[in-house]
Amino acid sequence: MALRKILTYPEPVLRQQAKKVEVFDEELKQLATDMGETMYDAPGVGLAANQVGVLKRVVVVDISKNDEAKEFITLVNPVISNGEGCVAGEEGCLSVVEYEAKVKRFQKIHVTAQDLDGKPLDFDAEDRFARIIQHEVDHLHGKLFIDHLSALKRNLYKKKLKKLLKSRV
Ligand code: NI
Repeated sequence: MALRKILTYPEPVLRQQAKKVEVFDEELKQLATDMGETMYDAPGVGLAANQVGVLKRVVVVDISKNDEAKEFITLVNPVISNGEGCVAGEEGCLSVVEYEAKVKRFQKIHVTAQDLDGKPLDFDAEDRFARIIQHEVDHLHGKLFIDHLSALKRNLYKKKLKKLLKSRV
């Protein structure tokens, strides 16, 4: 097990399309284990492979019922369909430092994916779970939650980030 470095905006790999996973081997399992560990260390509730510099269609999503027993699922090659409803909710991202904003997402989605052995997964997700999956699947397409905001808000964030990066030098 190992922690991986979480890359942050404007790192180019966050803007790239992740590729479909075809090989379900030990390397893939190790990636998922590391991603889970890295997510909880951050701490966060979801992580996509792009964020650790790996362009594979893999995301991990927290499904813990409580703080004592941390539990996550790995979705390989996830696809979202049948979005229903629309809810605005606060989001942040481990790759978008020091920023949170309200983002509109489907309230309910259908998800097809594969597990780490390549077996098909097929389920509905709602509310918080659905929001995290939508956020993480966006990452696989090179999309960040700030892309859902108005140009005005996004530019404000870019300015804020510039200042922040300058102050760290
Ligand atoms: Ni994110």
